[in-house]
Amino acid sequence: MNPSDDLVTDLVDAVGERHVLTDPSLTAAYESDWTRRWHGEARCVVRPADTDEVAAVVRACARHGAAVVPQGGNTGLVGGSTPRGGEVVVSLGRLDELGEVDTLAAHVTVGAGVTLAALHEHAAAAGLAYGVNMASRDSATVGGTVATDAGGIRVVRYGTTRAQVVGLEAVLADGSVIRRLDGLVKDTVGYDLGALLIGSEGTLGIVTRVVLRLVPRLEHRVVALLAVDGVPEALQLYRRLRDGVDGIEAIELIHHEGVELVVAHTGASQPFGTPHPSYLLVEVAGRSDPMDGLAAVLGDAPELRDAAVAADGPGRQRLWHLREAHTETISAMDAVPHKFDVSVPLATLPSLTDRLPEVVEGAAPGARLIVFGHLGDGNLHVNVVGPDPDDTAVDDAVLGLVVELGGSISAEHGVGRHKTGYLHLVRSDAEIAAMRALKSALDPDGVLNPGVLLPL
Ligand code: FAD
Ligand code: MLT
Ligand code: ZN
Repeated sequence: MNPSDDLVTDLVDAVGERHVLTDPSLTAAYESDWTRRWHGEARCVVRPADTDEVAAVVRACARHGAAVVPQGGNTGLVGGSTPRGGEVVVSLGRLDELGEVDTLAAHVTVGAGVTLAALHEHAAAAGLAYGVNMASRDSATVGGTVATDAGGIRVVRYGTTRAQVVGLEAVLADGSVIRRLDGLVKDTVGYDLGALLIGSEGTLGIVTRVVLRLVPRLEHRVVALLAVDGVPEALQLYRRLRDGVDGIEAIELIHHEGVELVVAHTGASQPFGTPHPSYLLVEVAGRSDPMDGLAAVLGDAPELRDAAVAADGPGRQRLWHLREAHTETISAMDAVPHKFDVSVPLATLPSLTDRLPEVVEGAAPGARLIVFGHLGDGNLHVNVVGPDPDDTAVDDAVLGLVVELGGSISAEHGVGRHKTGYLHLVRSDAEIAAMRALKSALDPDGVLNPGVLLPL
C-alpha cells in the first residue's frame, strides 16, 4: 500500500484495505483490455461493495482531482475500460446483488456487477429470460452492457440493452446519486437522466443498479446453419425467414474463412461435407415447436445450398460454437486484430462485403480479413489481422468505406478510445458540441473516463 498517496488512504477509509489494490501483480488484470490492444498503469484499483461506497470513492477521487475509469467485466473491445495512465480504476464487480424477480411486472433489479450469465440463470429460475445475450456472458456485466448499450445475438427480437432498461441508479461525478428504481414503465417527468447514461461508456456517471425488463422463457428452440452462395443470397434468405417464420431470435452471418479458423483453433467439426462461401446461423424459439414453420420456409428457399438443424441443447450449442468462437479464435491469431464493429443499411451491406477485400488490401497489403456479425441488425464485425496496432491506415480505410455506404463507425461496442478520432465522420459539429456540453454539465472537471467517447 502506498501510504504517501493521500488518495489511497482516503480510498482505504472508504472501502477497506482489502479492496484498494496497488500491487502491480494484482492491478495488472485491470490495466489491459480483452483485445490486448489497450493498456495503461492505474494509480490504484478500488473495489467498492455497494452504491454508498461507490459514491464515497468518487467523492474521494474528486477531492484529489483524480480521474476514474469505471470497469465491469473488462470485456469491452474499444479501449474504454482500461486506464490511459494514472487513473483510479473503479471495479464494479462486487455490486453483484440479484434482486428478487418481480414475476408480475417481469422486472428484476440487479447490481451493476452482475454478469449476464448470472442474470440469465436468475431469470430462468423464475421462469423468465433476459433479452440480451452474447458470447462474453460469463464476464460482461450489466453495468458494462448498459454503459455500452450492448447488442449481442438477440437484438432482432428484443432490441439492444437500452430496450431492456426500465430504470437505473448511478453515481455522478460529484458523488451525488440519481435513482429511478421504482420500476414504473411510464414516468415522464423531465429529462430521462438514466437514458442519458445508457451508451455513455462511463463518461457521465457510474451505473450501480439497474431495473431490467424480462421476457418469456421459451423452451422450444431450433438452431439452423444455412449454407448460401454469398451475402446477397444471405439477405434474400434473411428476408424470407423474417417474413415467413415466427419467433426468430437470432440471424447471424459467418463466412467460410471464419469457420475454417474456428475449426482449426477449437477442433470443432466441419458443419458440412463441402464448404460453402457463407452461412446464416438462425435461432427460432416459441411456446410450441417451431421446426415445422422453419422447415416449410426453408423448403421453398432457392438460395439454400445446405442446412444443419438442431433442436437438442448440445446440437444447438455445436452450431452456435461455430459463430461464437470467432472472437476468441481471431484474438488467438499471431497479431493483435484491428476490430471494426460497424453497421450499414441492409441495402448497402453487399457493397460493403464486396468492397472490403480490395479496400483492406490497399491499406494493409497481405493482411487477413475476417468478417462476421449480426446480419439482422446490419451489424458486421470486420477484423483485420496483420498491421501494427498503431498503423491506422486500415482504420481510416474501413471506417471511411462504412461511412460512404451510409453506415456507423460503432454499432454495439461503443467508441471507447479506439474511435474518438472518427466521431466527426458520423456526428455533426452541432451534435459533438451538444455532447461536449452535456459532458461538461455532468462532469465539469472531466474526471469520468477522460479520453473515452469524446476526444480529449
Ligand atoms: P467493461 O469492458 O468493463 O467496460 C466497458 C465500458 O463500460 C467502459 O467504457 C467502462 O468504463 C464502462 N463501464 C463498465 N461498467 C460501468 C458502470 N457500472 N457504469 C458506468 N460505466 C461502466 N458486445 C456487444 O455489444 N455484442 C456482442 O455480441 C459482444 N460479444 C462479445 C464477445 C466476446 C468474446 C467479447 C470478449 C466481447 C464481446 N462484446 C460484445 C463486447 C463486450 O462484452 C461488451 O461491450 C460489454 O458491454 C462490456 O461489458 P463489461 O462489463 O465487460 O464492461
Ligand atoms: C461478437 O458479436 O462476437 C462480438 O461483438 C465480438 C466481436 O466483435 O468480436
Ligand atoms: Zn457483436
